[in-house]
Amino acid sequence: MSSTFPNGFLWGAATASHQVEGGNVNNDFWEMEHRPDTFFAEPSGDACDSWHRWEEDLDIVAELGLNTYRFSLEWSRIEPEAGEVSRAALDHYRRMIAGCRDRGLNPVVTLQHFTVPRWMTAGGGWAASGSADRFARYCETVLPILAEGVSHVCTINEPNLAAMTAQLHLPSTGEPSPFPGSMPPPHQPTADALIAAHARATEILHSRPGLAVGWTVASQVVQAAPGAEEAAAAWSRRREDIFLEAAKNDDFIGVQAYTRTVVGPDGALPVPETTERTLTDWEYYPQALEQAVRHAWRTTGGVPVLVTENGIATADDTRRIDYARTALHGLRAAMDDGIDVRGYIHWSLLDNFEWVAGYKPTFGLVAVDRQTFARTPKPSAHWLGTIARTGQLAD
Ligand code: BGC
Repeated sequence: MSSTFPNGFLWGAATASHQVEGGNVNNDFWEMEHRPDTFFAEPSGDACDSWHRWEEDLDIVAELGLNTYRFSLEWSRIEPEAGEVSRAALDHYRRMIAGCRDRGLNPVVTLQHFTVPRWMTAGGGWAASGSADRFARYCETVLPILAEGVSHVCTINEPNLAAMTAQLHLPSTGEPSPFPGSMPPPHQPTADALIAAHARATEILHSRPGLAVGWTVASQVVQAAPGAEEAAAAWSRRREDIFLEAAKNDDFIGVQAYTRTVVGPDGALPVPETTERTLTDWEYYPQALEQAVRHAWRTTGGVPVLVTENGIATADDTRRIDYARTALHGLRAAMDDGIDVRGYIHWSLLDNFEWVAGYKPTFGLVAVDRQTFARTPKPSAHWLGTIARTGQLAD
């Protein structure tokens, strides 16, 4: 089995605006984090202060030897009210894109990573009629800055997860939240709207030659318990496959894999008590990446794969290296079988705001001091940087 990766392979680390910027007061998550009956462990607050410290973040990515940085634009900053554009916010992201290029980094830019402006939610969110038009207007707004050096654009991050968590975004009913706990099936009107929004966005983005356009799907890595093959296929279909099929004509498919889901006749089975779990309580299962890549390749009918997220929430950095090593061996095996994989982007560059779970689950290659925001690369960051520089996955 080969342990060499091709020249030009994208090696990177990822973040998302709401998880690292701080002070994103104008989006739906900030609102949810501050509800009296919130189920968030803590609010995002200043996050990693990357709104001000983005240059330091880019310096770290480049110094480690990675060649790619994936980050997202915060729609609620760019369009604080419907149709009202913040030139200053656009300029900020323009500088970030140029900052990547100045350091020899490929910017992989996500247009929407879970958060939407408050006005979007107030107007009914994705499921409301006209949501694709609203997203299209935002895409038109950001297109000029994307055209200044972005290599890959991810329209919408994990639309399947967004559809599964759509009910989070509805106004509070005072009823206890269904989260955390079991993940409901996707809200179909939201799923349909996201697929329509992706199609509209892709058309707009393709008006500029040179932009590779795709979206990133949360890989469920569904495995059937004995005798539950049909139930597992149905589970995968609604929660993942329809979103992969919507990517059949895309330039790439973003694969994001962390763990697996074992499905029995009545749905997902709990992780056995004795199994190793990560800080997000997920099964430690680094083989997920290879299986996710093979599934995405098959289901899209051979769309080139870009691994846009893969990682582990752990306080034990040696476990992060073990996890990523196994994941990368699996990725290489998939490539040996002819799957066209263009890059590996680790989640995450920084220990950051892990949504409902707050700051406890640490996914970062780089630690962030919660008082001073000082960044300290962990051994895993240097380990991944060496692989990126040499193209060699050594044991
Ligand atoms: C998301 C990230 C998140 C990560 C770990 C993905 O679902 O895109 O925002 O932090 O997984 O949970």
